[in-house]
Amino acid sequence: MASVDLQRLPRHVAIIMDGNGRWAQSQGHLRTLGHREGSHAVRRIVRAARRLGVQALTLFAFSEQNWERPAPEVMALMELLREYLVTEREELLENGIRLRAVGRIDRLPATVRDVLDPLMAETADLRGMTLTLALSYGGREEIVDAARRLAERARAGELDPREVDEALFEANVPSVDVGRVDLLVRTGGEQRISNFLLWGAAYAELHFTERLWPDFDEADLYEAVAAYQRRDRRFGRVTSADHEPHPRAAE
Ligand code: FPP
Repeated sequence: MASVDLQRLPRHVAIIMDGNGRWAQSQGHLRTLGHREGSHAVRRIVRAARRLGVQALTLFAFSEQNWERPAPEVMALMELLREYLVTEREELLENGIRLRAVGRIDRLPATVRDVLDPLMAETADLRGMTLTLALSYGGREEIVDAARRLAERARAGELDPREVDEALFEANVPSVDVGRVDLLVRTGGEQRISNFLLWGAAYAELHFTERLWPDFDEADLYEAVAAYQRRDRRFGRVTSADHEPHPRAAE
């Protein structure tokens, strides 16, 4: 396993979990079996990230665009999500993991909301690590939603448009509540961001791996963190820093 400096961990790690379909098809299975294996990888990596000491882990579990997939695949993903939330409840509680969701979660079926909402409430005060599931999520959509909220407040006379600056805007971008992204990992060989965490990942270090998500394991996570630690993060300045300064870091 790659050696990792525990003093310089990325605080917020985000993962685009890609390659489930190809993993299944390469073995002659249906794509949905790949998603099932992918959900086992989610369990493994949540556990590994918590053990390592990462403070925030954000997983791209379902994009706004994923609704366009064939209905049986969408239904299978929703069922897996529900199953994951039911079976991992104890693991989250025992390990002090706070669960959050970002995205247009009002679009999720009641079968998912019925387990998601109570589990988010039940884990709200846990501080070991924050696991954020991006569900029905799109980075542009999140920015548009933030702009709409600010515009509505301005129309209601609660906000002077001249007050809108980066910090105020960012306060309306829920995926950044746990801090800006330090390390963004994408599995499955493609090298793009695919509308994930556009605001928070502005200065993230990017790590792309050929490994398909169902095969991604603790050693791969360590490798990604070790690669991150070899980078020189300057945020447009000349000196290095471990994390991007966060305007609300003191809160
Ligand atoms: C991309 O693989 C993956 C997804 C669209 C969904 C990710 C879902 C999971 C990992 C399982 C369920 C989630 C949880 C939190 C339990 P793809 O189908 O696009 O793969 P491909 O590029 O090989 O076709």
